[in-house]
Amino acid sequence: MALNVDEIRSDFPILKRDVRGVPLVYLDSGATSQKPSVVLDAERAFYETSNAAVHRGAHALAEEATDAYESAREVIAGFVGASSDEIVFTKNATEAINLVAYAFSNATDKHRQGIEVDPRFVLRPGDNIVVTEMEHHANLIPWQEVCAKTGATLKWFGITADGRLDMESNPIDQNTKIVSVVHQSNILGTINPIEDIMRMAHSAGALGFVDMCQSVPHMPVDVHATGADFAAWSGHKMLGPTGIGLLWGKSELLNAMPPFLSGGSMIEMVNMDHSTYAPAPQRFEAGVPMVAQAVALATAVGYLEQIGMDNVAEHEHELTEYLLNRLQELPGVHIIGPPNAIDRGSAVSFVVDGMHPHDVGHIMDSRGVAVRVGHHCAWPTCRRFDVPATTRITPYLYNSRADMDAAVEAIVAAQEFFGVLPESEKVGL
Ligand code: ALA
Repeated sequence: MALNVDEIRSDFPILKRDVRGVPLVYLDSGATSQKPSVVLDAERAFYETSNAAVHRGAHALAEEATDAYESAREVIAGFVGASSDEIVFTKNATEAINLVAYAFSNATDKHRQGIEVDPRFVLRPGDNIVVTEMEHHANLIPWQEVCAKTGATLKWFGITADGRLDMESNPIDQNTKIVSVVHQSNILGTINPIEDIMRMAHSAGALGFVDMCQSVPHMPVDVHATGADFAAWSGHKMLGPTGIGLLWGKSELLNAMPPFLSGGSMIEMVNMDHSTYAPAPQRFEAGVPMVAQAVALATAVGYLEQIGMDNVAEHEHELTEYLLNRLQELPGVHIIGPPNAIDRGSAVSFVVDGMHPHDVGHIMDSRGVAVRVGHHCAWPTCRRFDVPATTRITPYLYNSRADMDAAVEAIVAAQEFFGVLPESEKVGL
């Protein structure tokens, strides 16, 4: 069903503002999404009516807050086809990935000291961890760190010239302990065949992790159907507040992992010289958690469900197809990533001949068009394409074709301003 973008936009207060004296055209949702009023109201209402620390205290507010927090977990779990004991709240997606990466290094440390741990999390020199060349830094550096601490080797799938994963470069082998891949690239927009990759991981006896930061907000996802063992994504990219990320993991695995952060709330029993730990998800939620953010994120999920993730995906697909076609009509503009909308999400990166991506973004901003510039926390991907950076457009459910047109006009204006547009192409902007 086609989205009613005008109606959706009216739910987002920030989209009504001007920037630099012109109406805002927000096209940086890959970095963070804007928030509808219902989400802002939910966070405020929690603080106004039920604020208390959860899972401690016997008073009415503590009970209400705990109910609200655990109900939010259920709603968010249901959104991705999970059960609530499989969902861990973290500070952000980066922390969720670190949580699993640290399970490996902590288990390896304990194993070296003769402490009994689940062998699936123990790494030895000769073992390897597999990622892809299109990971953003959050799904690369934690694994580099684990390798440095344990002696394991990092391996990766390469990228083809048209921005697809190079399946010929598959490095998974019998020594692979975990395969951690991005579902939709934040820089190229590529949607990877994660079901196949998870199958390959499991055939080699490895665990599988999927970075879903750019997929869960944009398409229907059933975490179990992907075949993964773990997944991570952020609340703030799916209309929710900042300060909350999600880790999904199969219960059996979460309960087999050593804790990441330790302290209050994650314990079963505490003595002066040792402690035992609660089952997941509490095992991984030390300290007073982000209750208001969880409540607001559940409201964001309700908002997305009401619109329908199939409809969100279809809308973005149409915008992506339109934008790719328009950009490819522009002389001197080159897409970095798949040039068509097949198996591709809405993150569209490009470079402009004769201009640095920062300058392109700067001129676009002067016309109210907000895009991201730089290496997008995916520096190795830029190196793969021999570019220092790109300019990136990332639309969402509140964007329209008119926003794509505004972006294209702003790019042409940037080319004119920098004098890099061939004389024959000038359109009198
Ligand atoms: N990973 C986020 C982005 O792509 C921050 O912009």
